[in-house]
Amino acid sequence: MVSKILLIFVLTYAAVQSQINNPEEEVGGVIGTTPELVTDIFGNVLDINNIPTVPFVPVPQLISNEGYPSENHYVTTTDGYILNLHRIPRGKNGTSNGKVVLLQHGLLLASSDWVLLGPKNGLAYILADEGYDVWLPNSRGNRYSRNHTTLSPESSAFWQFSFNEMGRFDIPNTIDYILAQTQQTSLFHIGHSQGTTSFYVMNSLRPEYNSKIKAHISLAPVAYMNNLVSPLVRLFAPGASQIGVLLQLVGEYEFLPDSGFVDLLLDPVCSIGVGKVLCKNVLFAINGFSPEQMNVSNVPLFFANYPAGAATKQLVHYGQEVNTANFEKFDNGLLGNLQAYNSIFPPDYNISKITAPVHFIYASNDFLAAVVDVQRLYSQLPNGQELYNVPLQTFNHLDFLFGINATNLVYDRIKQILASY
Ligand SMILES: *[C@@H]1O[C@H](CO)[C@@H](O)[C@H](O)[C@H]1NC(C)=O
Ligand SMILES: *[C@@H]1O[C@H](CO)[C@@H](O)[C@H](O)[C@H]1NC(C)=O
Ligand SMILES: *[C@@H]1O[C@H](CO)[C@@H](O)[C@H](O)[C@H]1NC(C)=O
Ligand SMILES: *[C@@H]1O[C@H](CO)[C@@H](O)[C@H](O)[C@H]1NC(C)=O
Ligand SMILES: *[C@@H]1O[C@H](CO)[C@@H](O)[C@H](O)[C@H]1NC(C)=O
Repeated sequence: MVSKILLIFVLTYAAVQSQINNPEEEVGGVIGTTPELVTDIFGNVLDINNIPTVPFVPVPQLISNEGYPSENHYVTTTDGYILNLHRIPRGKNGTSNGKVVLLQHGLLLASSDWVLLGPKNGLAYILADEGYDVWLPNSRGNRYSRNHTTLSPESSAFWQFSFNEMGRFDIPNTIDYILAQTQQTSLFHIGHSQGTTSFYVMNSLRPEYNSKIKAHISLAPVAYMNNLVSPLVRLFAPGASQIGVLLQLVGEYEFLPDSGFVDLLLDPVCSIGVGKVLCKNVLFAINGFSPEQMNVSNVPLFFANYPAGAATKQLVHYGQEVNTANFEKFDNGLLGNLQAYNSIFPPDYNISKITAPVHFIYASNDFLAAVVDVQRLYSQLPNGQELYNVPLQTFNHLDFLFGINATNLVYDRIKQILASY
């Protein structure tokens, strides 16, 4: 009932919004010229009505610009997607400890997450300088991995995937490629957000991959989602019969919401300070961030790189988990489920099959990974090693990547965990 009302509200809002957006009715360029300054805790200032544009620089070039060794690789998945992997094989001073780390990004994100803010704040550089061989994959459909042996990204067939296919194909195929390239038998896997979801999917559907994981670290673990806060993801949680209407609103194939859709989802955090501008970007609106952890000087860089692309079906699958309180496969409807799963309901992913050692690092103010959901998942893991709460109450989902304290609160801990193996 609640979701029906919400849907009617969305549709009405969209209709009103499309009228407001009619250019003939606009009054002129008054908004957009008045300076509106926001400041962060360092005193950096940004005029949110005149955000400077900075050029998009591809990850391999970002890495070599910093003086680090940079490599570009391609993996073709079993189902034909051509994924672009980036690599920092060793530290700036040539240090190498012979151990391999894979850093897997989340929803609407990319390999850039780990290098965008430079060597002091980028986990990829920090680990490379410790001597690790660092690999940065890109999931199917993001700006670096929009290619396929037979399908075009212009076609709907290209976009028929969720985190299920990432766990079933992208991650295992990528791991096999990396292990073959490096002549290793196992590696460290670190995931953020959807990068944790796809890890759980892989290990439950293809448990033979557990032995290829030295240890896994989940940053902002996402599997059970029924307690999440993110208003935008909640919009994807109406009943399956309403999802068709919702898909028309947000684009049926690639997830390309218009600005009216994003405006709808305003959380209180979006109406003050840097939130006023960051929430206009669907990445921040969906995932959540903490204003106190934002360096406003980085906003132009974020806008040049994100959102990095996703399929609508990824959001719909998350919305389903919000609705059902399960961590389960995609719901194709009654007939589709019978065909795909031989059951009218989609089956759960079997968490008991995740036997690799798993460390959790989670935050109390996370929009997507609510504390009770994280604890529930952890309690079901057969080989959980540690449930570590970031010691800052306001820490949020994207702060794991872009927060000013990510290095001292999260990455220092990651270094300790890796060194313990
Ligand atoms: C390179 O950096 C690592 C980590 O900072 C350090 O332990 C090592 O001694 C350095 N090696 C050289 C040759 O400078
Ligand atoms: C996509 O992959 C095909 C096959 O490997 C290749 O020929 C083509 O150049 C790629 N296109 C882009 C845009 O990367
Ligand atoms: C904030 O970001 C700017 C631009 O990336 C950078 O030059 C500056 O050092 C950052 N400040 C802090 C305190 O991290
Ligand atoms: C889940 O996996 C465990 C461990 O392999 C197995 O014992 C159990 O039967 C599985 N559960 C289901 C519902 O398949
Ligand atoms: C965050 O980083 C700043 C600057 O490096 C430091 O002064 C502050 O103590 C850190 N805060 C926390 C909670 O770690």
